[in-house]
Amino acid sequence: IGEVQVLRESVRQERNAAMRQGREISVGLVPTMGFLHEGHASLLREARAKNDLVVLSIFVNPIQFGPNEDFERYPRNEQSDLALAEREGVDIVFIPSVVEMYPKPAKTRIVVSELTSSLCGASRPGHFDGVTTVVSKLFHLVAPDYAYFGMKDAQQIAVIQQMVEDLNFDVTIEACPIVREEDGLALSSRNVYLSSEDRKQALILSDSLQQVQHDLQGDQKVTATELVERVTGLIRSKPLANIDYVQVLEFPTLNEIGRDVDLRHVEHDVIVAVAVKFGTTRLIDNVVISSK
Ligand code: PAJ
Repeated sequence: IGEVQVLRESVRQERNAAMRQGREISVGLVPTMGFLHEGHASLLREARAKNDLVVLSIFVNPIQFGPNEDFERYPRNEQSDLALAEREGVDIVFIPSVVEMYPKPAKTRIVVSELTSSLCGASRPGHFDGVTTVVSKLFHLVAPDYAYFGMKDAQQIAVIQQMVEDLNFDVTIEACPIVREEDGLALSSRNVYLSSEDRKQALILSDSLQQVQHDLQGDQKVTATELVERVTGLIRSKPLANIDYVQVLEFPTLNEIGRDVDLRHVEHDVIVAVAVKFGTTRLIDNVVISSK
């Protein structure tokens, strides 16, 4: 499917057809930028298991990329994406062109404040405005009952959840776990940019996060500052790694945590989030430590 009106109508028709038979259907939406991998597939599987109609959107959204980012060279492969969609039993694939999504320069943006000022929001100004704007367009077009997002982009989930609550979107956001390579590297469409040496050193992201998770299960007090220092030190030991940020925050509020607080005993969940550049490739990873 291409055009936005066709998408809206197709979903409506499915709903109405079911309605005429006295049934209600649930619609699950999985928004992506394509170049699909097992991480995306896990969201599709979750959607397939819980919904009657599964809609996959594939759209490299120009307004969420900064002027010096990789919009032009973002990896694309429509054929293999469609094959994966078929394997996962997707009902409707929506692949609009930029002109279809933005027929004229849009004058409206959805802006979530505060949650977007730290982590990736700080290093990528305007990024989340582009994300929330396109996601709200998709929510309006599809009117999904459930929408599936990966914890790989934990801040994205926090921001979208906030938008949904603030603007009364009638959709439930489902957060799905990070899918990793066997050695721990979080799957990402951008991993294809990595040289083989980058790829080896990039393992330090998941390795360091795993180590601090281990530290938090120990019998010694751990503060946010210590944790940041530990992860920073580990990542710095890799010569090709260029740290963008290493941060420890409450999740999903993204509030800062007091200097002296022992992270082993907090009442809220805590996220340890990292963004690291290898050459021009920026990778992110995180772990959320549940307060139980
Ligand atoms: P994209 O990077 O294509 O990711 C689409 C969805 O797949 C996101 O919810 C992301 O968190 C999830 N995902 C990516 N890698 C994952 C992994 N290794 N494990 C689990 N889930 C993973 O995120 C976007 O696109 C865009 O910002 C979008 C929401 C589509 C708006 O344009």
